[in-house]
Amino acid sequence: MKRLFIALAITLLSLPVAADEGMWVLPLLQKQNMPEMKALGLKLQDYDIYSPDSASLKDAVVIFGGGCTGEVVSPDGLVLTNHHCGYGAIQSHSTLEHDYLTEGFWATSRNEELPNPGLSVTFIDKIEDVTDYVKKELAKDNDPESMNYLSPKYLNGLAKARVGEKFLQDNPGTEVEIKAFYGGNQYYMFTKKIYRDIRLVGAPPSSIGKFGSDTDNWMWPRHTGDFSVFRIYADANGNPAEYSEKNVPLHPKRWFKISIRGIKENDFAMIMGFPGRTNKYYTSWEVAERRDIDNTVRINIRELRQKVMLDEMLRNPQIRIQYASKYASSENAYKNAIGSNWAINKRNFEKVKRDEQEALLAWADKQGKSEYRTALNQIRDIVADRHDLRFRQWMLNEALRTGIEFSSVPTDIDPLIEALKSKSSDKQKEIDKLTAAFRRFYDKDYVPEVDKKIAKVMLQEYRRLIPHTSQPAYFAIIDKKYKGDISRFVDDIFDKSIFASNENYNKFLKRPSAKALLNDPMILFAKSIATERENLNKALESYDTAYNRAHRTYVKGLLEMEKDQVHWPDANFTLRLTYGQIKGYHPRDCVYYTHQTTLDGVMEKEDSTNWEFVVPQKLKDLYQNKDFGRYALKDGRMPVAFCATTHTTGGNSGSPVMNANGELIGINFDRNWEGVGGDIEYLPDYQRSIIVDIRYVLFLIEKYGEANNLLEEMDITD
Ligand code: ARG
Ligand code: ASP
Repeated sequence: MKRLFIALAITLLSLPVAADEGMWVLPLLQKQNMPEMKALGLKLQDYDIYSPDSASLKDAVVIFGGGCTGEVVSPDGLVLTNHHCGYGAIQSHSTLEHDYLTEGFWATSRNEELPNPGLSVTFIDKIEDVTDYVKKELAKDNDPESMNYLSPKYLNGLAKARVGEKFLQDNPGTEVEIKAFYGGNQYYMFTKKIYRDIRLVGAPPSSIGKFGSDTDNWMWPRHTGDFSVFRIYADANGNPAEYSEKNVPLHPKRWFKISIRGIKENDFAMIMGFPGRTNKYYTSWEVAERRDIDNTVRINIRELRQKVMLDEMLRNPQIRIQYASKYASSENAYKNAIGSNWAINKRNFEKVKRDEQEALLAWADKQGKSEYRTALNQIRDIVADRHDLRFRQWMLNEALRTGIEFSSVPTDIDPLIEALKSKSSDKQKEIDKLTAAFRRFYDKDYVPEVDKKIAKVMLQEYRRLIPHTSQPAYFAIIDKKYKGDISRFVDDIFDKSIFASNENYNKFLKRPSAKALLNDPMILFAKSIATERENLNKALESYDTAYNRAHRTYVKGLLEMEKDQVHWPDANFTLRLTYGQIKGYHPRDCVYYTHQTTLDGVMEKEDSTNWEFVVPQKLKDLYQNKDFGRYALKDGRMPVAFCATTHTTGGNSGSPVMNANGELIGINFDRNWEGVGGDIEYLPDYQRSIIVDIRYVLFLIEKYGEANNLLEEMDITD
């Protein structure tokens, strides 16, 4: 008995700090996580999930585009991801006649699948610990200020040198990358294969794929069918190739089996994907900085901006469409910042991190190690010293760069000015370039009247909070020429700038002159902001060198102190695994949210007068007729979404959610508001991943899209 207890105590000791916390690195699964995963119900071996030298589940997980995850679900290269991840592609094919955003899209045969220039899907072929190699190379550099140990350029250079030019030439579409983990205490190399002929296969209408929109975003209970379907194409040999009619569907190494057996509360669940960024190793001072500067500036500024935007959108249906996507992305980060501050305060993250620091100091003092105290003092001082600069940087970014659209008018005008002055033959070429840049800025969604209104509010707030001497140099004109009258200043910019309207631009085209460009107020405005940004970045960079070193030392100390515990490295958009259980939660006293939502909830939320909650007639009919095929729950209701204690963040959207057998049971697409603080400190009783139930996805493909051809490709088990 006693021995059993000791054995138990030892296993418990080596378990992660809080069960369900963690974004784990695949090569370490066996060592770090298998006992706990098995205890939670996993039926697989570690090599089923990740194996360095044979196909495993990880081979069916891909980076989708630039910031999402996707999963392969058929031997013919079919990929599932979120609707919000495929949104750009779906939108790009949408016209008034074929409005796929509104109507949805289903290719009924392979030649109806739509190519998407610029979209890629990336497989991770190989993951290697290259810490020793990188450290040896770094040791050759004796510049104490060198930032090479974190520099992607330097590290990727090392990666290339390691595999050699020939390897890359022999393997088209293959790239290698080395990334720093634990602040630069460890390094992994990733061998990636990138496919660039990715075609749109299917998407539900936005009223399903984006149901609940901004109101429901970051919220549970959730009722969004957030998925879309793509296919990977390759050359005849299965190698990556640019789009060509001759390309054929990729036959991948692995694809997911799909389970429609259903789920229960407390079932094991795991997610593989590409979480983007977390800050688990923040110190208490950085927590406060994040709350009081980063999040607070973002919340206050976006509140002002979104209010103007929304007023305009509600007033004018045309503007509502034009600003839908801008509003959504503004709102997404805004709501995240609110949730983050909520958790920081409610759970006193400052104290949590302070306790960690103090434990380290006590331990280090006992060991007679002084470097950790030095590092912590340094971080404390840096955070204090950079306070004003950081505030200015956040204000500049939120209020002026993101806030005001005309701060990104084209400013690369020197070649044209040169050509105009010298009357060179390049003149027309340069004018065409400028026109193209102008059209990119003044695209179909740009409404000068809205930008003008927002700019007035943004400038007002910016000038109220930032000392005039610390503003972009050009702003001096507001005080001098306009006697501080922001409204008059902005109106005047819109009168005079060549970029403020098509008329103004056409007038300029009739008589292009260097003088007009040199004096253009929008160009001067944008340039002045860019200069201020560079200055601030440079001033802040001088702190970064010291900060990054101190951070690396601090993390090293924590790892050393808790040698017998396992620690996951902060997310850095590399392939990770997180596991936990399907579970509801108590958001507030007396309130419990269960783990599963159903189509009943979609109908409850239905509101034909509110664009966010419109339900398409066809879905209503399916609901009325209970035409759910084989996907209904035992009680006859249709499942829509579920939530789990898995630890996810931005970038995990589109990730495969698997059951204990490694079968696909859902697609991850969000987190709950109460849980976004998990980017800094995991909250077991609050944090939930929000997942669209695979049965809802299949039901929509079969009954709504009537795309049985797609189902036939998939391995569906019940
Ligand atoms: N909150 C999710 C994520 O961070 C979904 C965002 C897309 N939806 C939206 N309404 N903006 O990406
Ligand atoms: N919605 C996020 C994404 O797009 C996921 C999250 O932040 O939980 O990656």
